[in-house]
Amino acid sequence: MTNNPTIQELSHEDRSFPPPADFAAAANAQAVEYEKAAADRIGYWEEQAQRISWETPFDTVLDWSDRPFAKWFVGGRLNAAYNCVDRHVENGLGDRVAYYFEGESGDTRTITYSDLLREVSKAANALTELGVKTGDRVAIYMPMIPETVFAMLACARLGAPHTVIFGGFSASAIADRVKDCGVEFVITADGGYRKGKPSALKSVVDEAMEDCPEVRNVLVVRRTGQDVDWNDDRDLWWHEVVDRQPEIHTPEAFDSEHPLYIMYSSGTTGKPKGIMHTTGGYLVGTSFTHWAVFDIKPDKDVFWTAADIGWVTGHSYIVYGPLANGATSVLYEGTPDTPHRGRWWEIVQKYKVSILYCAPTAIRSFMKWGRDIPAQYDLSSLRLLGSVGEPINPEAWMWYREHIGGNRCPVVDTWWQTENGSILISPLPGVTETKPGSAMRPLPGIVADVFDDEGNSVEPGNGGYLVVKEPWPSMLRTLWGDEERFKKTYWSQYPEVYFAGDGAKIDRDGDFWVLGRVDDVLNVSGHRMSTAEIESALVAHPKVAEAAVVGAKDEMTGQAIEAFVILRESADDGGDDVVNDLRSHVRSSIGPIATPRSIMIVPDLPKTRSGKIMRRLLKDVAENREVGDVTTLADSSVMDLIQKGMKES
Ligand code: WT7
Repeated sequence: MTNNPTIQELSHEDRSFPPPADFAAAANAQAVEYEKAAADRIGYWEEQAQRISWETPFDTVLDWSDRPFAKWFVGGRLNAAYNCVDRHVENGLGDRVAYYFEGESGDTRTITYSDLLREVSKAANALTELGVKTGDRVAIYMPMIPETVFAMLACARLGAPHTVIFGGFSASAIADRVKDCGVEFVITADGGYRKGKPSALKSVVDEAMEDCPEVRNVLVVRRTGQDVDWNDDRDLWWHEVVDRQPEIHTPEAFDSEHPLYIMYSSGTTGKPKGIMHTTGGYLVGTSFTHWAVFDIKPDKDVFWTAADIGWVTGHSYIVYGPLANGATSVLYEGTPDTPHRGRWWEIVQKYKVSILYCAPTAIRSFMKWGRDIPAQYDLSSLRLLGSVGEPINPEAWMWYREHIGGNRCPVVDTWWQTENGSILISPLPGVTETKPGSAMRPLPGIVADVFDDEGNSVEPGNGGYLVVKEPWPSMLRTLWGDEERFKKTYWSQYPEVYFAGDGAKIDRDGDFWVLGRVDDVLNVSGHRMSTAEIESALVAHPKVAEAAVVGAKDEMTGQAIEAFVILRESADDGGDDVVNDLRSHVRSSIGPIATPRSIMIVPDLPKTRSGKIMRRLLKDVAENREVGDVTTLADSSVMDLIQKGMKES
């Protein structure tokens, strides 16, 4: 890994930015947090758990006896929705805004904590009437509208774990998740607005349901008013069932380890993993990090995570973290360039957003569109900027700081994963002197390191594998229905240490630089996908004999999907037609985000003598590099053929 060009590039970064003095003086988290956590890690988490209201206090902070299956805040009982909603209303904060909702087309709604309590209670009563019980899994396939939050919290209120499926996924991706999770109840909408047009959701669910006979009801929110097909035995309108419900619902407390949700994410095989989070630890992790990393002052700030609720970033920093802290958030339905490229900055100006959290891929788009666009808006309300999802290039970091943050806002590059539940490595904005491109330090209470193959800490400046050496409250507890895969994926590389799947280095100052995945997981615009998943989709096409997918460096999206495909002999060599067919086949079997940037029809694939595809060589081709060592190939002429084909196309 020491030859990795990225590491060489990064080691030349010598710019650094201390927190502004006034920010530092008023910051929630001061340097003492690190000392307290280092002196007594378990005691530190016990103290953080006081951010949450427990109906029954816990008696043990951590039970790690059955490792790698952790139990946090053992014996405690609580309700997640109560913590996110009711208790703020009880504390006299009912009139505080929970969400400023901004539809893509400009329609708006302001939802206070009292409104939220009423809507969540009605939705919980409706789900109960429809037979949803504690422990049942509920799938949610929705646009970015307030009902999505109501639905999630109604599930949490009943102890029915939700599994939110990103609105960009296809019918077969929905069906896979619904079946894997044993879902019998689905919540969706007729559609949502995307890029200025209504885009359908219900019809995608309808298609998925052909394969899911176990689903008894589909509850449908009317958002766009577009025509939908209707199955009288199965489908119900949200407004017909929810609106007539009583506004009072008494939440029940559940065990701290009761499952809160399952979020599917790509792993290294074709089958997505059902990452399971539980209640107490997850709420402690999200509320603590939202306080420490985002310096949230709930009575003053307007917080905006510009991500989709269908991903973990939205779960933790649009829904659970901000609501647990009684904060005010922006919820925006649409894309950054609809109806114009200043849309985000218009929203910042309109709601006086003070903290913005988004992905490097968005920042790179804004860079491309030019600094003149944000310059037309008043962004002076901003005081803190965050980044998440992939390594942020130092130049994008600098641009974000200068053209969005006016050189006045600290930038926090936050590293974490769906599995982690909440941020693990990040600057503390009032404490850390930041470096562009570095996620800096493990947060107080988090013990991370970079290991070599043998499980030793690497020397400063050398590359290795990012690991977490001690359990943390918001860690995943298992993979739904697959304990073996849970153990194998995260806990088998090194004994009792969490293996993240990322390459990283620690520099001489002890700061972490995360370099990206070391496995076959791709990161395209901050969306996670596995090469195997896309390969399986390709191979499922009748014309395809074999497929290999690699991630190639891409200036805008971080990585781009490049596919190499061997056609079946029976398939006529249809040239562009085949390629277009295959592209739309991948779109419809996984979703638009999985569409390959290019598909190359090849006569053969580079394989080792044991038959393993050498993706490294294909990556060289896709990135226009000289092809590396081919001596382990079973047939070394294969690469010549592929490269020849590449030049001709
Ligand atoms: C992978 C996790 C949880 C946030 C959304 C993505 C990459 C995430 C950073 C960062 C470098 C990052 C890693 C990680 N990643 N944040 N600040 N710097 N890389 O969640 O879909 O579970 O993906 O995203 O490669 O393993 P996810």
